[in-house]
Amino acid sequence: MQFRKLTDLDLAGKRVFIRADLNVPQDDDGAIADDARIRASLPAIQLARMAGAAVMVTSHLGRPVEGEIRPLDSLAPVARRLSELLGCPVRLQADWVDGHFSVAPGEVLLLENCRLNRGEKADSAELAGRIARWCDVYVNDAFATAHRAEATTHALALIAPVACAGPLMAGELEALSCALLAPERPLFAVVGGSKVSTKLTILEALADKVDHLVVGGGIANTFLLAAGYKVGKSLVEADLVPAARRIIARMAERGASVPLPTDVIVAREFSPTAQAIVKPATAVADDEMILDVGPETVAGLVAQLASARSIVWNGPLGVFEFDAFANGTRVLAEAIAASDAMSLAGGGDTIAAIARFGVAERISYISTAGGAFLEFLEGKSLPAVEALCQRARD
Ligand code: 3PG
Repeated sequence: MQFRKLTDLDLAGKRVFIRADLNVPQDDDGAIADDARIRASLPAIQLARMAGAAVMVTSHLGRPVEGEIRPLDSLAPVARRLSELLGCPVRLQADWVDGHFSVAPGEVLLLENCRLNRGEKADSAELAGRIARWCDVYVNDAFATAHRAEATTHALALIAPVACAGPLMAGELEALSCALLAPERPLFAVVGGSKVSTKLTILEALADKVDHLVVGGGIANTFLLAAGYKVGKSLVEADLVPAARRIIARMAERGASVPLPTDVIVAREFSPTAQAIVKPATAVADDEMILDVGPETVAGLVAQLASARSIVWNGPLGVFEFDAFANGTRVLAEAIAASDAMSLAGGGDTIAAIARFGVAERISYISTAGGAFLEFLEGKSLPAVEALCQRARD
């Protein structure tokens, strides 16, 4: 994967346009609930600013209707937080597509939610052309949006005078490539979450790459069913049992394993106050649902992970939001954090679990992305990255 990098360019006096992903979660009052993506975007902005560039940053926020500006779609709270973190004023500029604004060298201007511009979602070359006229350097630092071909992630990258990757984009791609394309082995993948259907292509792609594929959550229930176990009224996708069997067989052909839970924690209702019962995976009753893996399974997993040289983690092992069913995910998070293997984690639920169990500092790399991380795991090419690579070949 070859692309130009922001760190290699001379930026003094240049007009630098940075497409960041500042799509942060907000509470009902619009306050930023987690500023991790803003913090992760600072290095590119600082680098350009310190080099004496006139810095223009944009991002999408949510999924607004193009041309319909509502207060909740505004990047105003992001501008305030960015200003606090940078320690300098950050003005917010609306109606910016034709460049009718001024920005001085060393200044940072935030350009209002790019998904408000007509043509953004459709990857409009006409919209991108209007933007390309007034920027010298286009920087894509929005790895979390790299799976979207939109005007500011794709069309603009193809026609801007210079197109390069920012440090966050480059860092994400390096970490993901290192973990998946050239990993130290054994490579473990832990894939949890509720449904096989949402992660089937990931499981299939990983089945060709990893040495051990650990499944958890509702995904494990479907695998248990495929292996002939009864799963009571657990969340399960019976129509995907053949797919689960295919994955188990494909792994076995390669001498690789899909370890299944040997014990589970069940309940009779899906509730934070439900009584949690530990039992062998072979003994789930018709009126019970599996909400977590059991202690024996967790201990076995921790022992196995001790031999890992690389670990990729996406998705919880149980309903970690409920204390009684959080143990599997908590111990897994702690084991990954304690491991000296290269560990890579990503995806919305996984990031929430990492935050809840306080292990963020000890995971080698946590992706800022949700969908883009999953598409990378699936082996799909990401349009925004493709565009940067194409420009490097021109
Ligand atoms: C994300 O939160 O995953 C990214 O910002 C992409 O957002 P989108 O799914 O609205 O394109």
